[in-house]
Amino acid sequence: MTASSSVDTRAVGVAGSVAELQHAVAAWRAARATVALVPTMGALHAGHLALVARAKALAPRVVASIFVNPTQFGPNEDLSRYPRDIDGDRRKLATAGCDLAFIPAVAEMYPEGAVARVDPGSLGTILEGEFRPGHFSGVATIVAKLLRQAAPDVAVFGEKDFQQLLVIRRVVRDLDIPVRIEAVPTVRESDGLALSSRNAYLSADERARAPLLHRTLRDVARDFAGGDAAAPDRGIAALLAGGFAKVDYLAVRDAETLEPPRPGRPARVLAAAWLGRTRLIDNVALAP
Ligand code: PAF
Repeated sequence: MTASSSVDTRAVGVAGSVAELQHAVAAWRAARATVALVPTMGALHAGHLALVARAKALAPRVVASIFVNPTQFGPNEDLSRYPRDIDGDRRKLATAGCDLAFIPAVAEMYPEGAVARVDPGSLGTILEGEFRPGHFSGVATIVAKLLRQAAPDVAVFGEKDFQQLLVIRRVVRDLDIPVRIEAVPTVRESDGLALSSRNAYLSADERARAPLLHRTLRDVARDFAGGDAAAPDRGIAALLAGGFAKVDYLAVRDAETLEPPRPGRPARVLAAAWLGRTRLIDNVALAP
């Protein structure tokens, strides 16, 4: 393990193996400190740092993992071009007060012959799961492994990936993993665009059009809550008229099960849509 003070005091220390991670966590536990985990795929932005800030408020010791997880990418997705900036990430984590970065190699997380996967069931095959087959099994598998490896008291995730958050809650419940899952609201640019590592792929023209996604979701949420059942269809039309190439889905769903909404229960409007070659996702809550 690289102590944060030994090489670059502006960069957080790194554990590259599960053994190093567990050694650090055991030392914290011996000092009676609770531990928070922030799982990430790196290319950190202010949205991730909000997760670290929340983690710091919940536990004196914070570990962030940086791992671009191959099993959650489909064959035609952006695994090889996914943005990576380990040095920048380590500096941002140090500034945010994170205590350790867990940055394992693929062979550390998926040793030769590792075939077991976590199947999150139907929650993983609807909406995002319909367009990204196997994605949530990859997410559920890597998050279950990280939770087993770090054994944190609390793990922090963003609401930006709302379906992912529900999948993780379900996996933690069904597999009896003793951890609290904490959700942090989406961090947005001033024009409403949700922060995402994939925003870096947008051209200047696409970036100018991108905030329409959030505006549309807010309109749909308002109109649907007001009794307008056609609001989602109008939202899809608005996105296509505003330069989005394709809308994979735009739907109002129950905020806990992602089943069709029922009166009196919390609901959420979720969407995935393409600007050129970049796929954006976002979601907003419906007013109760
Ligand atoms: O949200 C992400 O960055 C990833 O899906 C996660 C939770 C770190 C699992 O790889």
